[in-house]
Amino acid sequence: MISGKAKLAGVMGWPVGHSLSPRIHNYWLQQHRIDGAYVPLVVEPVRFEQALRALSALGFQGVNLTVPHKETALFVVDRLDNLAQRVGAVNTVVVRKDGSLEGRNTDVFGFAENLRNAGLTTGDIATIIGAGGAARAVIVALQEMGFTNIRVVNRTRERAEKLSKSFSDGIQIFDEAKINEALDGADLLVNTTSLGMVGEPPLKIDLLSLPREAWVTDVVYAPLMTDLLKQAQQRGNKIVDGLNMLLHQASPGFEAWFGAKPEVNENLRRFVLAET
Ligand code: ATR
Repeated sequence: MISGKAKLAGVMGWPVGHSLSPRIHNYWLQQHRIDGAYVPLVVEPVRFEQALRALSALGFQGVNLTVPHKETALFVVDRLDNLAQRVGAVNTVVVRKDGSLEGRNTDVFGFAENLRNAGLTTGDIATIIGAGGAARAVIVALQEMGFTNIRVVNRTRERAEKLSKSFSDGIQIFDEAKINEALDGADLLVNTTSLGMVGEPPLKIDLLSLPREAWVTDVVYAPLMTDLLKQAQQRGNKIVDGLNMLLHQASPGFEAWFGAKPEVNENLRRFVLAET
């Protein structure tokens, strides 16, 4: 039960009904016996700025942002952290003591932490499929982890070129037809598109030239075992599913708003999966 002194946070999106964040944060609140609540906030785009600005007046500690607000937030918050700036998206907003808003990006941490916990701490060559918003966070995470050669494979070349231009260097673009070249010698393969997600077509990819020692991960977590991960596992690659990326990205926000460091463990995974 929450009291009149409960600390408040939430997730703003449009729509927001699909978000697993309320489940994750309220699980942690209960675990830590914190007097607090994390609520879904359905905010339409035209009222987003008004809603975000109201957080301080309402006494919120902050919010997570999801589609379509992550990019708009760049122009609304008072301060951006380095990662939000580099990714070009804000997924976590912290209301500071003076009422100002700080925009952060914890998707970068979520992606890297998921791989680190699975045993992959660094590498040289990473091949990523897709050039959208998720790809941007993955690229910054890979740069942070020390990958020096990032290859982007995308259906639309122009989109990949635009993405590559916004990062300084170290990004090579490949057309889908050149997938064999893009996978040759890679240490890691990442799917950043929604292909393979429930209700979407599968990601069709020939892994022939991917080294057997390479790691394969997917940002899609519903289903947990995507066709890509199954295919990679069958040929002997080490695989990492995408669920813990979601769980780890939630952790820095929780700590900033509620003051406790939460744990990502098997019980939380099971609890969150029961909803997917
Ligand atoms: P997100 O923010 O989740 O990354 P997005 O910005 O819409 O979503 O990006 C989606 C990515 O998935 C893009 O790289 C897109 O390729 P295009 O740039 O060619 O559109 C890719 N994608 C989506 N559907 C696809 C499909 N059917 N085949 C190949 N790529 C697809």
